[in-house]
Amino acid sequence: MKNTINIHDTAFMTSMFRAMNEPLSNDSFSKLWSNANTKMWVDAYLKEVSEEEVKTHCVRNRFFLEKIKELSKNNKIDLVINFGAGFSMYPFLLNESLAHIEIDTSEIIALKKQKISDWMEKGILPKRNIHFIKANFSKNYEKKLFGKLEVLIKGKSLFVLIEGVLFFLNKNESEKIFSFFDKIQCKGDYIGSVSFNHSIRNTRAFKRLIHFFNKKIVATSAENYLTLNNSFYTEKSSYKIQEHRDYFMYSEELNNKIDLKVTDILNENYYLLQKTQ
Ligand SMILES: C[S@@+](CC[C@H](N)C(=O)[O-])C[C@H]1O[C@@H](n2cnc3c(N)ncnc32)[C@H](O)[C@@H]1O
Repeated sequence: MKNTINIHDTAFMTSMFRAMNEPLSNDSFSKLWSNANTKMWVDAYLKEVSEEEVKTHCVRNRFFLEKIKELSKNNKIDLVINFGAGFSMYPFLLNESLAHIEIDTSEIIALKKQKISDWMEKGILPKRNIHFIKANFSKNYEKKLFGKLEVLIKGKSLFVLIEGVLFFLNKNESEKIFSFFDKIQCKGDYIGSVSFNHSIRNTRAFKRLIHFFNKKIVATSAENYLTLNNSFYTEKSSYKIQEHRDYFMYSEELNNKIDLKVTDILNENYYLLQKTQ
């Protein structure tokens, strides 16, 4: 087992969590990314941070899968842009009429593009319209990315997704990426976003998460991992929160039984925002 993981390796872990409870995630393709190295990381993570992490990742994915399905069925969106897409498999779980743009770091995009094209060619995955774009949200990406997106998004209704990513950005980078969304979107378009709110810092699970990441990723302090309160979203003057759930609320809707204590669970918040002006 490698001694350290890179931030982009977390994308493999997220996919494995989804594959570990397919009835809950409804993602039958994430298992394609499974490998022995990730399994060792996942086992260590579940033991040292929180056993609930399989289900928290499945429930989060399911929330956005259902929302995107619903919006697409009602002809409200025709293009999904996934920022920090990792190895998520939404395009293959959704109707083929939707187009997709997936953005992530060069390491993820190079591998995902090659694997997806191979699996589509071999009939392991259904054919879908996906554009892959490399970008690093911690660098000056806006001008180049805008140039690439401009032609692809023209006249389309957008669903922008940022799932499992904000935690790794700082506050400035998060503000910057939301301003970027504002720039590429039109009135009526949607954003799906996930974040922890500040209260998570008092839980045992979050303390163990920071300890795990310090040990395995890079030594850093808890302050370097971003948490955001609802005000981050409510203060955005061009957007309105349409829906807000957390792991506990959406679990109830899915009849997902929770056994662990609240303090041992990494409870994330899921937001659906709509652009109002
Ligand atoms: C935990 S994974 C989540 C992946 C996917 N959104 C999901 O939910 O399955 C975090 C993803 O964010 C990406 N990411 C983190 N920091 C980034 C940055 N500065 N620029 C671009 N991508 C970034 C990683 O490469 C990784 O794919």
